[in-house]
Formats: sequence, structure tokens, C-alpha cells
Amino acid sequence: MINLIWAMTEDYIIGQNNSLPWKIKAEMQYFAQTTKGHTILMGRRTFESIGRPLNKRHNIILTRNQEWTKKTKNEYPELEITDNLPAVIRRFANLPQQLFIIGGKEVFFQTYLYADQLYISVIKGNYQGNVKLDFFPEIIKGFYLAKEQNLSQFLTRLYKKRAVNLLTVK
Ligand SMILES: NC(=O)c1ccc[n+]([C@@H]2O[C@H](COP(=O)([O-])OP(=O)(O)OC[C@H]3O[C@@H](n4cnc5c(N)ncnc54)[C@H](OP(=O)(O)O)[C@@H]3O)[C@@H](O)[C@H]2O)c1
Repeated sequence: MINLIWAMTEDYIIGQNNSLPWKIKAEMQYFAQTTKGHTILMGRRTFESIGRPLNKRHNIILTRNQEWTKKTKNEYPELEITDNLPAVIRRFANLPQQLFIIGGKEVFFQTYLYADQLYISVIKGNYQGNVKLDFFPEIIKGFYLAKEQNLSQFLTRLYKKRAVNLLTVK
């Protein structure tokens, strides 16, 4: 099972200068609760913005930089670091084991077509940011809203993949 999970404003902002534009404790707790016990996959920049492996989760980092891989494996031997995104996707596609793809923009762009579910936190209020999921309207076309929760600082939305109706595919 392949999940994408992220938090964004109503106008699709997800990042500011390689970090999050907001600090919302309840949203961080929601993210932790949802992903704990599972495998998470992230791009090298997102890993650097977090600054350490996230506990109680198997962390996989994507990079093409062999030097960085060597250095980071020395520091955190528990990390899985790879340049083979298709192999990670194949390990979880059509299986009950859950993969949570946690960002950033570059990684979401390459993986949304493989997602079974999207966990999106919509942050209330206005925040500035220089990383925007401008392709969100494209992503969402393949999904329907299955569950929504309205909390004080954010909404949680769970989207599930639409079944493809073969009769309408040309
Ligand atoms: N709001 C949220 O929920 C959320 C979540 C995550 C991140 N963010 C924000 O998003 C921003 C970071 O996103 P980003 O798009 O700049 O970077 P990113 O997707 O986190 O990382 C990009 C890096 O990942 C590696 N990579 C990507 N695709 C690869 C592939 N197919 N094979 C091998 N390596 C691959 C490359 O690393 P190398 O250059 O080392 O080769 C690439 O430079 C930050 O501002 C962060 O705070 C927000």
C-alpha cells in the first residue's frame, strides 16, 4: 500500500527555505501517529531539513550522491539510502505493508501516480513559502475524499484512489 502524506496551505504551499512555514504541534503529532510503525520514504533535502532519522519508523532516503550516502550511512547506520525509487515502489505496491512517502515536492511529483491514498493536512491561515505543490489539481483528479476531520488549526483529509472504469478509458 502506497501513501503520500503532507501538510499544505489552501494555496498548496508546503515549504519555506527548506523547512516548514508553520509550527503546529498537533499536526506534528498527527503525522507521527499516522506514520509510526511503518516505512517512510523521503528526498535528501527533506531528510536534511528534519536533521535526523524519525524514530519508530524505517527511514528510506533518496539521493544520487554517493559521497553523501557514505557519510550519512556512517553517521546513521540504521538508515536505508538508495537511488532506486522504482525498487522501493515495487516493494510496497499491491501489498498490505504500508509505505508513507513524506516529501518533498520533487519526490511527490515522481510518486503520486503510484499512490493508493493521500493523507493531507490543510493548514488554516496564511503562510509564506517558496515550495508550492502547484501540480496539486493534477494529483487530486485520481482520488476521492474518503474522510475529513476539522481541527482547530488544520483539517485532516484522507483521499483514496478512484477505481478506474475501464468502460470509459479510450
Ligand atoms: N509540508 C510538508 O508536508 C512537507 C513535507 C516534506 C517536505 N517539505 C518541504 O519541501 C521542501 C523540500 O522539497 P524538495 O522538492 O526541494 O526536495 P526533496 O524532494 O525533499 O529532495 C530532493 C532530493 O531527493 C533526491 N531525489 C529525488 N528524486 C530522486 C530519485 N528518483 N532518485 C534518487 N534521488 C532522488 C535528490 O537528492 P540529491 O540531490 O542528493 O541527489 C534530490 O535533490 C522543503 O522546504 C521541505 O520543508 C514539506
